[in-house]
Amino acid sequence: MNIENKVIVITGAGQGLGLETAAYLAKKGANLALIDLDQSRLEHASERCSGSAAAQGFNIDVKTYVGNVSVETDVINVFAQIKADFGALHVLVNNAGITRDSLLLKVKDGAISKRMSLEQWQSVIDVNLTGVFLCGREAATHMLENDDESVIINISSISKAGNVGQTNYSATKAGVESMAVVWARELARYGIRCAAVAPGFMGTEMVANMKAEAREKIAKMIPLKRLGEPEHIAQTISFILENDYISGRTIEVDAGLRL
Ligand code: CAA
Repeated sequence: MNIENKVIVITGAGQGLGLETAAYLAKKGANLALIDLDQSRLEHASERCSGSAAAQGFNIDVKTYVGNVSVETDVINVFAQIKADFGALHVLVNNAGITRDSLLLKVKDGAISKRMSLEQWQSVIDVNLTGVFLCGREAATHMLENDDESVIINISSISKAGNVGQTNYSATKAGVESMAVVWARELARYGIRCAAVAPGFMGTEMVANMKAEAREKIAKMIPLKRLGEPEHIAQTISFILENDYISGRTIEVDAGLRL
């Protein structure tokens, strides 16, 4: 796929990996539909993307949409609006995700002092798993009308293998990888490729917000001894878009760390 002039939808585009991916694809001349919960973050993202594109000589179209990826009516309405605004939808980067870390059971002096709550479980399932499902379904529905190729990329995580303190998050990240395989198989006949990217520990707010002891412990285990940069993930997304023989697989970008 040639990224220039394509319409690329990015969820969770107000910060972190979503924002960096948007700015990176803007430099390649993509038109962007940015979805997030927070209008002010979206305005900042939009300005940054337009500036990044202009610096490379591109005059791209950037539009922002406030919506909750876990609410079906929001997702249906936002994707319909994107289609109406741009006339087409070529790529979805299914990125929006949250953490609510907790041990399943925390035991102190032989007694349970804490358990992962249903709220911690459900909130992560709602955004990271149901959100990816809903956005993938709506995007694919509109992509059916494209004459040329379309791509859906689900953002997984190194935690898909099962990370201590992340029963909820790990389950969702394993889930979004298998959804990419299912969709690659089901949607290939309509010209839609699907893949996943599994970042390791990157320099994002999500990792910065980890308990310091846990972050330091993990950073020491990374063979390259440093956190990744969000741009490493943006580069990988761009590579998947440009390489039209990648589908149904996950690219792991974790500097050799395996949990
Ligand atoms: N491996 C092994 N043991 C671990 C562990 C780990 N990764 N993390 C915690 N533990 C152990 C602790 O050593 C401790 O053991 P002791 O009681 O023997 O000392 C026990 O579990 C309890 O840990 P805490 O005292 O930290 O318990 P807490 O209730 O205060 O916090 C927690 C629990 C919230 C899970 C915290 O440990 C934590 O934040 N861990 C890190 C979770 C993590 O890796 N999150 C990744 C966030 S970034 C992200 O998700 C992006 C991405 O895609 C990678």
